[in-house]
Amino acid sequence: MKIEQNISLKKYNTFGVQVYAKRFVTIHSFYDLQELIKTEKELFLLSGGSNMLLIKDIEKLVAFIDIKGISIDKEDQNSVHVTVNSGENWHEFVLWCISQNYGGLENLSLIPGNVGTCPIQNIGAYGVEVKETITRVECLEISSGKRVHFSNNECDFGYRNSIFKNEAKGKNIITSVSFQLTKSTHKLNTSYGAIETALQEKNITNPTIKDISDAVIAIRKSKLPDPKEIGNCGSFFKNPVIATTQFYTLQKKHPTVPFYKVETQNLYKIPAGWLIEQSGFKGMRFGDAGVHTKQALVLVNHGNATGLEIYQLAQKIQQTVLDKFEIFLEIEVNVI
Ligand code: EPU
Repeated sequence: MKIEQNISLKKYNTFGVQVYAKRFVTIHSFYDLQELIKTEKELFLLSGGSNMLLIKDIEKLVAFIDIKGISIDKEDQNSVHVTVNSGENWHEFVLWCISQNYGGLENLSLIPGNVGTCPIQNIGAYGVEVKETITRVECLEISSGKRVHFSNNECDFGYRNSIFKNEAKGKNIITSVSFQLTKSTHKLNTSYGAIETALQEKNITNPTIKDISDAVIAIRKSKLPDPKEIGNCGSFFKNPVIATTQFYTLQKKHPTVPFYKVETQNLYKIPAGWLIEQSGFKGMRFGDAGVHTKQALVLVNHGNATGLEIYQLAQKIQQTVLDKFEIFLEIEVNVI
């Protein structure tokens, strides 16, 4: 393992902001990591860089997790158990599943980032969350240097949340993720309005997992900026969840407010994109930091914005939404 000095992280974060790592090392295997933590306890872990806003240079040793490989653990007639190393690109893995006719992840097509980070925020889109297919997560425990596993239950998944954002944070390094996928009787989820519309437009009544993946890719491409063209981290904020009384007051004042009723609880999830758009920020630009023109939930770097400029824009949005709607928007990406 070669430790390099003063490496630009611009190409390692999908916001494309320019900050430097004082020291940088690329990790290719579980063994590399085990060796590294014998001498370096304070690591800054970097993977797909698709859920972080870097606002300053990184003092800690940056460990770029580039552990590759996919293996099939077991399979029967209708299911397959696959283990994927954390450095594999998420979307490439999803496309591989579709090419093998393995179902379960098609709604999660085109999400940026790597496999190793998908459990951390329990990635979700178009009616599906990754927790539905994850069977276990393998980690290197930093204190002991040992391989440990978290079952699906132990991951304590929630909306954009898991144990890896809470108790396990900073204590474990995710090295692989195992999934249980379907082989023939796929459990298709086409309930999300935009997917239904996309399939209807193509006259598809009996969709395959590839049809769904294609529909999701088309929807995402039409709404969300491609990080290769405009720096971004997808949704910058979480959709806020509010109590019934607050929801009724909001609805009285703003009868057109979209909402999702949170099942089994007296709570309502409000699309942050709507709140931000109503606050006048959609498509706004402050220097090179901006709000995407087609989805107000996504902050963008038009070229040379600094992390701090994007963060200041986020704070301005938070304050305006709070003043207008009395709702606090929680930032979803990690600000570092
Ligand atoms: N809306 C607006 N203006 C906007 C954006 C949205 O009014 O600029 C309103 C519309 O009424 C729309 C509703 O918000 O119908 C919902 O919008 P959308 O379907 O785009 O979904 P979202 O709630 O804004 C969430 C996820 C996305 C995921 C989509 C689709 C979060 C924080 N975001 O967005 O996830 O792709 O649903 O399932 O839950 C990501 O995490 O990076 C991400 C893109």
